[in-house]
Amino acid sequence: MSKQGDSVLGVIGGGNMGSALVRGLLAGDFSADQIVIVEKDDVRIAELKREFANVEVVSKLPKCDSVVLAVKPTDVVEVCGALDKSGVQQILSIAAGVKIATIENAIAKNVAVIRAMPNTPALIGQGASAMAAGENCSAENVAWAKKILLGVGTVVEVEENLLDAVTGLSGSGPAYIFLLAESLIAAGVQQGLTEQVSNELVRQLLVGSSLLLAESSETPEQLRKKVTSPNGTTAAGIAELVGKQFAEIIAGAVSAATARSKELGK
Ligand SMILES: NC(=O)c1ccc[n+]([C@@H]2O[C@H](COP(=O)([O-])OP(=O)(O)OC[C@H]3O[C@@H](n4cnc5c(N)ncnc54)[C@H](OP(=O)(O)O)[C@@H]3O)[C@@H](O)[C@H]2O)c1
Repeated sequence: MSKQGDSVLGVIGGGNMGSALVRGLLAGDFSADQIVIVEKDDVRIAELKREFANVEVVSKLPKCDSVVLAVKPTDVVEVCGALDKSGVQQILSIAAGVKIATIENAIAKNVAVIRAMPNTPALIGQGASAMAAGENCSAENVAWAKKILLGVGTVVEVEENLLDAVTGLSGSGPAYIFLLAESLIAAGVQQGLTEQVSNELVRQLLVGSSLLLAESSETPEQLRKKVTSPNGTTAAGIAELVGKQFAEIIAGAVSAATARSKELGK
């Protein structure tokens, strides 16, 4: 089947996120001949061809009506210039901080634009994405974008002005969790464990607790209380965290990241 035509989905930017999305699409309803990856870097093109043997990987955008924009934010406007001539009708952009209006204005015709903020667990199909739809979007456009994002995890819909908050929470969130992991590993070592043992325990602590949270119908607070008997060991640890303003520290981190996202989007 030809790659040129209305049913082709162009994924522009075959980097970390672009390739994760292609992986998700192929694991879902999309077949290799419905996708074309557009990538400008020759070395990366060769890598993509190796990973996605049956997917066409090109350096110039062919005619296609649907596009995922997965290039760096600074490359978006330039890419949109080329998109204008490609027959594109719907665009899902994951470029951080690039507004729907910026994309709409960079393309000289009415195009449906959906803007999303995924996060790095999308690389293993466990992402948390939020998306916002532009004014030209129909229910079909929204459903199309949602289906693509569901290939790499979960997705919620928000107003576009809340995508900065999403960036500060779940977009930057994996780094907060990794910092927590680093701190816990170091704390285990301080208490006499070897680095290797502490590392193994902490990794599984986070995996196990996350799965418990995901699979449970109880709130995080209920789950916390269940492992915190009065005057017990966990209560002693939690009292230390509360005393050092743990919740306020986390709120401050999300607030700072949200503010930075707003600044970068200007
Ligand atoms: N990684 C994350 O956690 C995350 C989370 C949310 C959103 N995002 C967004 O996702 C987007 C992609 O991020 P990433 O981490 O996947 O970046 P990345 O690995 O750098 O991938 C972007 C790729 O697009 C290529 N490219 C640039 N201009 C192009 C063009 N005109 N045509 C075709 N390909 C082009 C780049 O090539 P060159 O390297 O040669 O420029 C690069 O290979 C970014 O906008 C980012 O804001 C990322």
